Amino acid sequence: MAARFRRFISEITVLDLRMSETIKRRSDGLSRRDFLKLIGAAGTGLAFAPFVPFGNFMPNPNQASLERVPAILPDGTQANINTYPVNHSEVITYPATGDPALDAEAFRKWQLIRLPAELGGESNDVSALRAFSMICLHLWCLWKYWPDDGRKRGECPCHGTMYDASTGIAYIGPASVQASPSNTLPKLTLDLDADGLVYILPPKFTANENGVIGYGRFA
Ligand code: FES
Repeated sequence: MAARFRRFISEITVLDLRMSETIKRRSDGLSRRDFLKLIGAAGTGLAFAPFVPFGNFMPNPNQASLERVPAILPDGTQANINTYPVNHSEVITYPATGDPALDAEAFRKWQLIRLPAELGGESNDVSALRAFSMICLHLWCLWKYWPDDGRKRGECPCHGTMYDASTGIAYIGPASVQASPSNTLPKLTLDLDADGLVYILPPKFTANENGVIGYGRFA
């Protein structure tokens, strides 16, 4: 995926360079009509940009498990609804490989949030939990959940996008003005066992299901 994305970007760059060259080469004798043709061609290319399946180029992890797996907290224990505090978040890794270098990749990082009480966080079932990709949908910085009074939302430190803790929808900042699905964070589907232990169900990384990391999800 990453290689396809790089190839796509390099093709756009080559096209851009060729157009620049043409304009430069002909700058002395470039007629107004030729110039307008070039601008028209560039405009046509941009008009089709929304229909390019950018999600296919995103470096989503491809080792997603076919079985549910435990949601492991940074201290190595499995998250449990009976002990996980209300209005609290920690970073979990999915899919985890056991290789420290791979597991450190930002595209494997998710915020496991137990919602604040006013958003249903006191329920002792899976409805109290959310797991959203930490990759901000604007320019891929890492956002995090802030539990403080007056915040209780995801915030990106780079350009100020704020995410609703319950829905993962950007409601302030640059990601909030991006067209759907690029205004809504990808999520993991969670499950509990009889003891309250938290599991991650097998995701489908498409925009219509769990979402595409770095690209978004149709809410
Ligand atoms: S990268 Fe998050 S707001 Fe720009």
